[in-house]
Amino acid sequence: MKTFITCLSFLYALMTAGCALQCEVCFSRESRHCSGDIKTCDEGTMDCQTVITEMIFHGQDPIYNIFKNCSTKEGGHKSNAYQSRGQNFTYQLVQHFCSSNECNRNDSAIEIPVQDNTENGRCCNAGLDLNATSCQPSGTVKCTGKLTNCIYFGGIVQFSLNPMAMAYHACVTIKSTKDLPDFPTRAMLRIDHLEFTKAFKCPQQ
Ligand SMILES: *[C@@H]1O[C@H](CO)[C@@H](O)[C@H](O)[C@H]1NC(C)=O
Ligand SMILES: *[C@@H]1O[C@H](CO)[C@@H](O)[C@H](O)[C@H]1NC(C)=O
Ligand SMILES: *[C@@H]1O[C@H](CO)[C@@H](O)[C@H](O)[C@H]1NC(C)=O
Ligand SMILES: *[C@@H]1O[C@H](CO)[C@@H](O)[C@H](O)[C@H]1NC(C)=O
Repeated sequence: MKTFITCLSFLYALMTAGCALQCEVCFSRESRHCSGDIKTCDEGTMDCQTVITEMIFHGQDPIYNIFKNCSTKEGGHKSNAYQSRGQNFTYQLVQHFCSSNECNRNDSAIEIPVQDNTENGRCCNAGLDLNATSCQPSGTVKCTGKLTNCIYFGGIVQFSLNPMAMAYHACVTIKSTKDLPDFPTRAMLRIDHLEFTKAFKCPQQ
């Protein structure tokens, strides 16, 4: 009898191990690579995810963050990208989903596009405050490539050791909140302002 029960629970373990997806879970705020434990995701998780963010302040080295985890949303995700350009910074987020065990291990396989610097004739309000959750526009920024919408963001973000307030006006690729990728909760702590508008024709100079 005991053997029978052991056998049943062994079978059960095998079955659940077969069904539940396993993903690598880790994050780094200093690199675009991280490695960590392999975690068995909650039942129903269809994807592992990797999010890499790149922040470049004018003339400085890029700051990369990476977050790997089980995906919290239900399956069938497409990989997603988000790019923005302000007067003195560019920011992009690459979100990659995959659906087999440990498939998010190799983060070198994820490409971070080089942002297209070709001006597209559209402009947005510009402004950046790294110590406030709101900011007034202070000029305009020329949009480039596929960035044809404007964003006003204000909130608390974290891409280095400490969380910080940040507010900006910039050009972006996406046109509404529903196009936003799922920012990892470790990267986006609080949103106070989030507005999208269409980019306007750049003023004549
Ligand atoms: C992974 O996701 C879970 C659930 O959303 C969260 O509690 C956990 O902190 C995340 N782990 C990392 C390393 O981000
Ligand atoms: C990870 O992906 C890169 C780029 O596709 C590839 O060159 C490399 O061999 C892969 N590494 C492993 C361990 O699979
Ligand atoms: C952008 O940087 C330039 C010099 O690097 C500075 O003069 C200007 O005030 C900055 N603009 C914003 C919006 O931060
Ligand atoms: C950030 O803002 C607070 C409150 O407005 C102020 O006390 C602090 O000196 C500012 N810090 C920096 C680095 O500007």
